[in-house]
Amino acid sequence: MSENFGQCLFPFKKSVEGAAEFFVPDFSRMKTLKNYAPSKIPVFYNPFMKLNRDIAVLVLQAYQRIMKRNLVVSEPLAGCGVRGIRFAKEVSGISEVNLNDINPEAFKLIKRNIEINGVEDTVFLTNKDANLFLSQHDAPHKRFDYIDIDPFGTPVHFLDSAIRALKNKGVLALTATDLAPLCGVYPTAALRKYGGFSLRTEYSQEIALRLLAGCIAFAAAKHDIGVNIIFSHKNNHYVRVYVQINQGAKKANQSLKNIGFIYHCFKCLNRKAVFLTQSPDVAECDVCGSTLRFAGPLWLGKIADKDFCELIEIEACQKRTGDENRIRKIVRLIRDESDAPPTYFVVDYICDKLGIPIPPLTKVISQLRQNNYKIWFTHFHNRGFRTDATARTVMEMVRKALH
Ligand SMILES: C[S@@+](CC[C@H](N)C(=O)[O-])C[C@H]1O[C@@H](n2cnc3c(N)ncnc32)[C@H](O)[C@@H]1O
Ligand SMILES: [Zn+2]
Repeated sequence: MSENFGQCLFPFKKSVEGAAEFFVPDFSRMKTLKNYAPSKIPVFYNPFMKLNRDIAVLVLQAYQRIMKRNLVVSEPLAGCGVRGIRFAKEVSGISEVNLNDINPEAFKLIKRNIEINGVEDTVFLTNKDANLFLSQHDAPHKRFDYIDIDPFGTPVHFLDSAIRALKNKGVLALTATDLAPLCGVYPTAALRKYGGFSLRTEYSQEIALRLLAGCIAFAAAKHDIGVNIIFSHKNNHYVRVYVQINQGAKKANQSLKNIGFIYHCFKCLNRKAVFLTQSPDVAECDVCGSTLRFAGPLWLGKIADKDFCELIEIEACQKRTGDENRIRKIVRLIRDESDAPPTYFVVDYICDKLGIPIPPLTKVISQLRQNNYKIWFTHFHNRGFRTDATARTVMEMVRKALH
């Protein structure tokens, strides 16, 4: 099917996600067009981000239930509008969803998608640069309760204006898809964008998420605002963080107490979380004496709130998204690991390092439990676990599990 959205003519198809039906560019037919390139797709839609949007719907509903009032929501980089339209149709207690996209083709398509969903009374649309849009909402009576920033690559360019456009106790949701800098492939790019070094370890995706969270905390602190990470998760090609802000210089100081470094020994896998407020001598590994490498400054505090995870799980039981079982499993893992120490171990990585065969993960876990160590599984890696045992002990247990 082709339709003329104003001056724009491109092949498109109708799609359905959650309670929204909407037009999206028809990629399969566009590939047959001359000069096709993904960057030339007239309006962005990524079906693989459904899980990200499903979780956003649940988080927003859980937050609305806490606030017990109607919320004003915004998505400054809206693509085809599916996320915001889903908020309007699937979340109760939403009085306004303010969508914006700089792309005129996106504007035309979102307008049409708003109409076919019959949400014109709730969903409002503009066609500006996101920073301009957010800056026009930084006066106290114009601010939003919830802002969702889901850009191409890094969200850092929109961080400052998003924080200024958020009400006190409001929630900011950010996706970062630039995992190469964040996961340690380009540590200096991570320093430039996020103010901290990344590091290529078996838990580099956790470092990625903590760098993003730390960057939000620093950005908020400049405005005398503190942050609480109420929920966060990773997927193959992105990390996502939800923070609630709290105005006040003391709150900002409090949240900066969660900032620090993760030191890592590539020889013996020893790792150490060190807060900025501490100043220990950490140049050398206290187990094997090797020089330590580090990631950060980054967020060392909790990366999810246990009670809030439970509220998300309740919402996931009530809302059918087609992926609710998968989401419940992810949320439960995140809830359980929220109390655990930073960084996790991956048996396969350890075995690779030791040059030994890989024992069953269950055997390693029961070895550790028999020795009274705690275990927390992690949503970051399906063969990863957190523990209060040291790297040396974990390696010992891995060897024992082979027999
Ligand atoms: C990844 S897509 C958004 C996808 C959407 N959030 C979703 O869930 O489907 C990023 C969007 O940001 C828009 N964009 C890029 N730079 C922008 C800017 N400076 N201001 C506003 N929109 C921008 C692009 O046109 C694109 O539609
Ligand atoms: Zn060491």
